[in-house]
Amino acid sequence: MTKEQLYKKFARYYDKIYEKMDHQREAEFIKWAVKSYKSSQGNELLDVACGTGRHAYFLKNDFKIVGFDINEDMLEIAREKLPDIPFIKGDMKKMDLGRKFDLIICMFSAVNYNTTLDELKVTLKNFYNHLNDGGVLIFDMGINKENWIEGMVSVDTVIDEDFKLARICQSHLEDDVFNSSFVYLIKENGMVDFDIDEHALGVFGMEDVVDLMKTKGFEVFIYSDFKDEKWGIETGERPVFVGIK
Ligand SMILES: C[S@@+](CC[C@H](N)C(=O)[O-])C[C@H]1O[C@@H](n2cnc3c(N)ncnc32)[C@H](O)[C@@H]1O
Repeated sequence: MTKEQLYKKFARYYDKIYEKMDHQREAEFIKWAVKSYKSSQGNELLDVACGTGRHAYFLKNDFKIVGFDINEDMLEIAREKLPDIPFIKGDMKKMDLGRKFDLIICMFSAVNYNTTLDELKVTLKNFYNHLNDGGVLIFDMGINKENWIEGMVSVDTVIDEDFKLARICQSHLEDDVFNSSFVYLIKENGMVDFDIDEHALGVFGMEDVVDLMKTKGFEVFIYSDFKDEKWGIETGERPVFVGIK
């Protein structure tokens, strides 16, 4: 099976696997952060690594949204769900849309698809260049050096009457990169099949990320798991970065 086909399968399962995630709560945090920090006049939102449009769905009445993602299969699903929103295919590391926005979001650890600090630096520069003065950047970083647990096994399951899926992965870090192999076991149309989906994710220290953001010109705040509470290492919670241009 080619990589292209594997991605197709992954996109199809994405919404089912993450069905229980509370994107509405995250969208409420985004709206709160924008009210608190944005001083640019417009309401243009660029959703980088938008996936299947799960945040766009809850933000579409408050912002004029453009979605951007590297995976055409994810974009196809987003377009079907949200036909009024333009969804563009592209790589955040090379992004050059020739226009600026008031808010950029990059959600659910999608920044971890930058595997080195040099790549992250380029991506943050791209984000900065696509923001109006007074605009806001928001991204979460569920995987980071501070919360890394080596060898941890995660198991996600979907159990519907006519569809069953188990996805297993083990954390292992090599040179600050998590080369994750997700093993899928899927029962669909009465048949069991399996797949492996591979992702390379950069694992960064929080201070390095803050330093990079400041070097690029952002004022930085870090919140804890989409709550109106500042993040600290002791919280053990998902850091949510808010950068102001
Ligand atoms: C974990 S998903 C997050 C999707 C969405 N933001 C959400 O919260 O559900 C990661 C997404 O990042 C996209 N992605 C990975 N590398 C990318 C890149 N270099 N540029 C743009 N998108 C990328 C993938 O195609 C995938 O849709």
